[in-house]
Amino acid sequence: LERVSVSSLPQELLLRIFRFLGPQDLCRCAQVCSVWTQVTRTGSLWRHLYPVRWARGEYYSGPPGDLDLEPDDDWIKSLQDDGRAYQEWDEDADVDESEEASAERSSISALQREKLLLNGIIQKLLPAVGSSVRSLSLAYSSTLSSKMVRQMLSLCPNLTHLDLTQTDVSDSAFDSWCALGACGTLQHLDLSGCDKITDRTLKILSVGLGDSSTPSPAHKLLQAPPSPIRIEEPRLQPMGRSCQDLIFKRRPGGRGSGCGPTHIWVLDPVKLADIEDAADWSRRGGVASQEIGCGGISEALSASCCCRRSQRRGFRTGLSSSPWQYGDALCGHSSCCSSDAAALRTQSDLQATGGSAELRTKCWFEGQSCAEHHNRTDQSGAQRALRFLSLSGCHQITDLGLRCVCLRGGLPLLEHLNLSGCPLITGAGLQEVVSASPALNIEHFYYCDNINGPHADTASGCQNLQCGFRVCCRSGE
Ligand code: FES
Repeated sequence: LERVSVSSLPQELLLRIFRFLGPQDLCRCAQVCSVWTQVTRTGSLWRHLYPVRWARGEYYSGPPGDLDLEPDDDWIKSLQDDGRAYQEWDEDADVDESEEASAERSSISALQREKLLLNGIIQKLLPAVGSSVRSLSLAYSSTLSSKMVRQMLSLCPNLTHLDLTQTDVSDSAFDSWCALGACGTLQHLDLSGCDKITDRTLKILSVGLGDSSTPSPAHKLLQAPPSPIRIEEPRLQPMGRSCQDLIFKRRPGGRGSGCGPTHIWVLDPVKLADIEDAADWSRRGGVASQEIGCGGISEALSASCCCRRSQRRGFRTGLSSSPWQYGDALCGHSSCCSSDAAALRTQSDLQATGGSAELRTKCWFEGQSCAEHHNRTDQSGAQRALRFLSLSGCHQITDLGLRCVCLRGGLPLLEHLNLSGCPLITGAGLQEVVSASPALNIEHFYYCDNINGPHADTASGCQNLQCGFRVCCRSGE
């Protein structure tokens, strides 16, 4: 058996291995060589970012649903103490050797680390992977500024989950959302304890969520009745046995055969991450691919497997003798060799499985249902996706802000609305938002106990009464 060095592994295999690593290990791998640096900058490795936790040695990087995001009181208190120490920190002060001063120094260094990490993410990571980022949790950060948030949001146009709980951000943080549909994928927005937030943020949010009252041309196309199209038998691409899971069906009359409708390729959601990575790598011009002489995933998807082509071309690297490049043997590309490799299907398959346009919008990651991506493409004018909104403690919010967010088609999917600690809103404003949110779960609807609003008997009361660090009109009772 021939020995293969880790440095000769194809990028696709490296990527598979890197998927088992956390953010800290990925950063170490990025320092090995330029090829590894390129692979570690693949979007699917950085879907969920938790820089505040990472700066404190907690390297969780899974979806937010799998994490208990409700930190305990001690954790919050320690973060608040760190924040206070950081604000009072005088860089030029004489060094104090006492025990108290040493605890303070460790708090300050944790926050310095956090700030360094946030800046690194903005300058180095997000320009490369921002479009793949789905979750961004910056809750309880003491070093975060509105400018930083604005930069991050402009680099992450496909965010579905944003948590800014108990941060110092102001309305200007969301200026990058002013373009219509700029946060059209957003499903979860937590601004609890952001007491500088005013109605302006809700106005910007409403614009950014898009306008579902006027369907976009793309959405009209999705809803158009399907044309009666005869589908050919599946034609297998000449890829070798390991590649037979990639099935291409085409509609007659497509491009190159007359004036029929354009092909519509529907991707099986399984392993969509590979395809997004392929686009990611393709955007970068395949520089890294050329470096090690092996094509990217995009090549594998577009025609025949790059490993087979490499045999024809004759690779100059040592890879030509590697076990991934022999005829029908496994090439290592997840898109070719995985048992659950992505299958491309036409619209007819969609109709056969129920004909729902929504099916197209669902995607799966790593073999598991990815709730955060449901309705992703449907946001092109179909429905505003917001399901969770917490403005707990945003005491400057008024009816005007609520009215703004209800415009442009309302919030058809909103299930959770927390308006605890917003004493300036009135029963009329609440009624308006309830009317615009048909999916609202009354058990997850919170507002000030002193407001006579809708569902007064069944809605949950103000949550801030016990909280201690968020505004509440009954604090101190
Ligand atoms: Fe009124 Fe909390 S804001 S009870």
